[in-house]
Amino acid sequence: MKTNNVNFDDLTFTFTETRSMYVAKCKLGQDWNTGELVPYGNISISPASTVLNYGQGLFEGMKAYKTDDERILLFRPEMNAERAAKGCLRLSMPEISKTIFMEAIQKVVNDNSDYIPPTEKGALYIRPIIFGSAEGLGVAPSTEYTFIVYCSPVGPYFKGGLSPIKLIVSTNYHRAPLKGTGGVKAIGNYVPGMLPSGNAKREGFAEIIYLDAAEEQYVEEVGAANFFAIKEGKIITPELTGSILPGITRDSIIHIAQEKLGMAVEERRISIDEVMTADEVFCAGTAAIISPIGSIKYKNKEHLFSKGNVGEITRELYDILTGIQFGTDNDPFNWILEL
Ligand code: PLP
Ligand code: COI
Repeated sequence: MKTNNVNFDDLTFTFTETRSMYVAKCKLGQDWNTGELVPYGNISISPASTVLNYGQGLFEGMKAYKTDDERILLFRPEMNAERAAKGCLRLSMPEISKTIFMEAIQKVVNDNSDYIPPTEKGALYIRPIIFGSAEGLGVAPSTEYTFIVYCSPVGPYFKGGLSPIKLIVSTNYHRAPLKGTGGVKAIGNYVPGMLPSGNAKREGFAEIIYLDAAEEQYVEEVGAANFFAIKEGKIITPELTGSILPGITRDSIIHIAQEKLGMAVEERRISIDEVMTADEVFCAGTAAIISPIGSIKYKNKEHLFSKGNVGEITRELYDILTGIQFGTDNDPFNWILEL
């Protein structure tokens, strides 16, 4: 049995192997079998599998937190189960059931609970993946599917925790077209971003902002996180048109802003020109939590927000969200599942 020798003091958002993972299988036309925990390790797969050849697969991302009194908390895990099930349908895969998804998450977290860092140091990132694992030469759905849940202790996604990041708007690349797969966590949505994101990082930016593919005017997302602007006390976030991922953090921020802070929230298109007039901007996701945006470069102009500091409302939203997630505050929305 593997022992945990991870140094929680220096965690970054990189992969660290843990003790075990969960594996379940499904033959096309049958139900998912009940899976099992196995030691974490490599899997064997046909070179002709549909995931390797045609990208038939999706992933999810969620976190488990450990409180000071050693309680283990999951944040809205059923939302991930529902999003994964919808994604399966879009990618012609058999829908994963909520029962199997939830059982897998709980088994993996319980078995790897000694890998969960204390919340001030990070969290256990949980990565469910579902993919076509049988061979198939023609472009058609696989006849067999595999569901795996693995996990890794992680630290902050962007360096420096709650410190403002520098972004650049991508003018040469789009993330997702309308009516494509941008609204689900298809694995194929992520590789096209590696080139522009890598270029931006070499120029000193933390990530890129994508504009809509049709008119190239409206903000869609920030790499792998949703976008928010605050202007004159209102929160504006791009509406879910189909090309934007319906983030669970995004949904949570909308509820917190409306119900805890009494703020108006507008889900609508927001042009990059309007963004440049905002008082505060930030991006949000499971990995990113809430990351304040200090500056945005668009074409040849760079605009500074909140004088490059963390905006007041951004900090308030961060404190409320993480208070619920980390179990240091009460949970008025019933979002936490304690294991
Ligand atoms: N947008 C994209 C493209 C993502 O990959 C993610 C991460 O899952 C998000 C937004 C944020 O979603 P969530 O808050 O559910 O993690
Ligand atoms: C997440 O926030 O869970 C994500 O999926 C981002 C990831 C691509 C690193």
